[in-house]
Amino acid sequence: MNSSKPLEMAQVALSSPTGGMLPVRVSRLEAIAADVVAISLGKTDGTDFPEWSAGAHIDVLIDGALERQYSLCGRLEDRTQLRIAVLRDPASRGGSQALHEKLHLGDTLFIRAPRNNFPLVDADETIFIAGGIGITPIHAMIAELEREGKPWKLLYGGRSRATMAFRDELAEYGEDRVQIQPEDEAGLLDIAAWIGEPRPACAIYCCGPERLIAAVENACVGWPEDALHVERFRPADGALEGKDEAFEVVLARKGISIEVAPGQAIADALEAVGVHIPRSCNEGTCGTCITKVLEGTPDHRDSFLRGRMRSENKKIMVCCSRALSARLILDI
Ligand code: FES
Repeated sequence: MNSSKPLEMAQVALSSPTGGMLPVRVSRLEAIAADVVAISLGKTDGTDFPEWSAGAHIDVLIDGALERQYSLCGRLEDRTQLRIAVLRDPASRGGSQALHEKLHLGDTLFIRAPRNNFPLVDADETIFIAGGIGITPIHAMIAELEREGKPWKLLYGGRSRATMAFRDELAEYGEDRVQIQPEDEAGLLDIAAWIGEPRPACAIYCCGPERLIAAVENACVGWPEDALHVERFRPADGALEGKDEAFEVVLARKGISIEVAPGQAIADALEAVGVHIPRSCNEGTCGTCITKVLEGTPDHRDSFLRGRMRSENKKIMVCCSRALSARLILDI
């Protein structure tokens, strides 16, 4: 870790809206792969964290303003610590860079309690496909399936061996269950061969860079609609784009109507009339701002809703999505 300047998160956060956030202290920093640091966090009051489940993530407040989501990769049974792994992203928009360059042992951070948008489902077999730092939620999920004695297998790609966190530990499960394929040695992952023919009761989980998720989505055409589960920490390519016209939003329970101007987020328009919808990523990936639609057609610009959840148009992510109809009626 670079130690140029201490991260002033605690001070900044105390004067910022940290509503519902937990103060935590950095208890361990470990380099676990090239450009990947594992950060262990303990509660500042020494009490246990709430229970969490494999696939969960936490929101971390960075530099008092930016919230980023990081999957938990620690042991479920250890409630004294939460552990995340952070890749120093060359295209960082401030989050990973700050954590790599400014964070010190003993620093205070603010986080939200673990939430799980990527839970394990009951399945006869579970197939994992991870790319790079996308291994973090899958690491915890594998531990969980092992504990339960359920079948799973993992295809794990990365730029090179040195960049692949948990590589040696995962390799111990044996080649029949874990295939580790650094791109500089083995080229691109053969996803179609790994997942095989569509079949029922098989769950496929993918986490990694957008091009990997897109390739897996493509390979899963023809599979049951609910077979594939993906987790993104960045918007899908082009997701946020679209026509930007004004529309009306009716808040059914409050009995008021507001106009959402071109370029304005629904959540911001709601904020302006005193209605606060919790948000974290503000770009449609984390699921925090999910809101029920009672009438009208959303213009989904998020990367969170998938399959039936998306096509039914009963939910909208108000941080980024807009309306295809002139009016949306929301359950607010
Ligand atoms: S705030 Fe993350 S999806 Fe809306």
